[in-house]
Amino acid sequence: MQSGLTLGIETSCDETAAAVIKNGTEILSNIVLSQINIHQKYGGVVPEIASRKHIEAIFPVIEEALQEAQITLEDIEVIAVTYGPGLVGSLLVGIAAAKALAFALSKPLVGVNHIEGHIYANFLNRQDVQPPFVCLTVSGGHTDLLLIPKFGEYEIIGRTRDDAAGEAFDKVARVLGLPYPGGPQIERQAKGGNRHAIQFPRGMLEAGNFDFSFSGLKTAALNYLNEMRQKGLAVGVSDFAASFQWAIIDVLTQKLLAAAEKYKVDQLVLSGGVAANSAFREHVQECADERGLQLFYPPAHLCTDNAAMIGSAGYFRYLAGKRSDYYLNALPGLRLGDD
Ligand code: KG4
Ligand code: ZN
Repeated sequence: MQSGLTLGIETSCDETAAAVIKNGTEILSNIVLSQINIHQKYGGVVPEIASRKHIEAIFPVIEEALQEAQITLEDIEVIAVTYGPGLVGSLLVGIAAAKALAFALSKPLVGVNHIEGHIYANFLNRQDVQPPFVCLTVSGGHTDLLLIPKFGEYEIIGRTRDDAAGEAFDKVARVLGLPYPGGPQIERQAKGGNRHAIQFPRGMLEAGNFDFSFSGLKTAALNYLNEMRQKGLAVGVSDFAASFQWAIIDVLTQKLLAAAEKYKVDQLVLSGGVAANSAFREHVQECADERGLQLFYPPAHLCTDNAAMIGSAGYFRYLAGKRSDYYLNALPGLRLGDD
């Protein structure tokens, strides 16, 4: 069957997601069932609860994706599923569902790296993003700076040595008493705040170093909050959020621009949940415009976890002849380029 239709399945963290993608780029449906309201009362994702909720939701979500795309399982050409990185118990639910469908329907199965999926969110509903480019993948679990010389080739230029950028947002937001996930909350609080109100440290800014470190910033932010509380002083949340957010945006942008210069590429690509941050997008856009560089990023709802990006990455892996067998297993620590 050469329908060009991919069923994408994503369950690596706390979103149960399924999507139908045509020819790797056209979204026919994209269903994301978020568990955020369940995990919010614990201040973060509880892995046991996440896998249980995935089990309940996975087939209804797949069914909804098929219905919205107005197709049946028979019409699908290939089944793509995230197999890492992520929470093992969560990943296994998507993988088991994908394997069962692939076996029952005799359809090819393709395991997809979640980070590669985030990058492919840039190829959905558009065709103008072409390598070579430098890409910053910034999410709750990852901060990777990549050179992509050709489709499917990834050169890791730098990555975080400790916390991911999204993780820093989430942890600091939690101490501020803001609900999970913290990124969008801090972005909201930062509006109208003065980003220069508090001078937070920037890690690893020495020239030629493309790695990141956010734990120093996180500690400085937490210490600032503790100190203010101990002194009985009120924290100006808006200024605090703006300054903290700016420290992250500043480092991410400086490294991305330095990478573009070093590797002589004129295209910049953003991906991952933190790329949904509009202050970040606006700042990189201004810097790109000043330097005559082209910037691409997905719409905000395709920056955070979804299955459309997995369907896209899976379809292009399938076209490249890659297949997974029924031994496909969850790889929580999977790295880009490992497969
Ligand atoms: O890509 P994603 O949905 O899941 C992972 O693969 O981790 O990213 C989620 C992360 C969370 O840490 C969340 O706080 C952050 O992305 N995030 C944001 C924004 N939206 C989501 N961070 C900053 N600003 C945002 N608007
Ligand atoms: Zn993600």
